[in-house]
Amino acid sequence: MRVKNVIEPFVIKINIEEEIINNYNEHIINRLSNMKNLYLNENVYEEMLKEEDKLLYEVYLKTVLEDPGELIQGLTILYPGKVGNEFFMTKGHFHRIFYTSEIYFCLKGRGILLMETTNGNWKAEEMKPGIIIYVPGQWAHRCINIDKTDNLVTFFCTRADSGHDYKLIEQKGFRKLTVDKDNVPIIIDNPKWNKCKNIL
Ligand code: PA5
Ligand code: NI
Repeated sequence: MRVKNVIEPFVIKINIEEEIINNYNEHIINRLSNMKNLYLNENVYEEMLKEEDKLLYEVYLKTVLEDPGELIQGLTILYPGKVGNEFFMTKGHFHRIFYTSEIYFCLKGRGILLMETTNGNWKAEEMKPGIIIYVPGQWAHRCINIDKTDNLVTFFCTRADSGHDYKLIEQKGFRKLTVDKDNVPIIIDNPKWNKCKNIL
């Protein structure tokens, strides 16, 4: 049997009303300025940024040893809003250890989990309270808040050492975008996607 560090069992509690977990040890804050080149309408993005570096989403993490046998868990709170007609979203990423999977458990709000592979597959799953989405390894994933007023609150759990790889998404974007068309969220092709440098 492999010898590794043994950690103590522990509990985390989620207060869904307050949108917080206790016992977290990392808090990541993502503002508009952290989302450069990710939204389609760059002019609107720059205009919005001049006015305010808005808080877009926060992640509370319970990290443990970065060991393949351990799990990392946390809570993401994605605020409502749009850049042009594109809904607020997370950056989206592949995992650094490419084949590692993840569980997303939506606790509050309304959203879309957009997923894609490097060989052209894509999938969009609805997020609403009670929905658990299994994101298999090799699928990039991004949350989108499609509600006008409510936060999208999601619990996630993945292998502790899975890591984040943002490079591909920063360079190529996602194949699909989620936009507001006459008050209905729709998924469209990303017109910028093909113009990005093909690094695959
Ligand atoms: O590991 C995950 O998939 C989540 O914890 C995300 O990191 C979190 O939702 C924020 O998204 P991103 O890392 O794409 O900014
Ligand atoms: Ni992930």
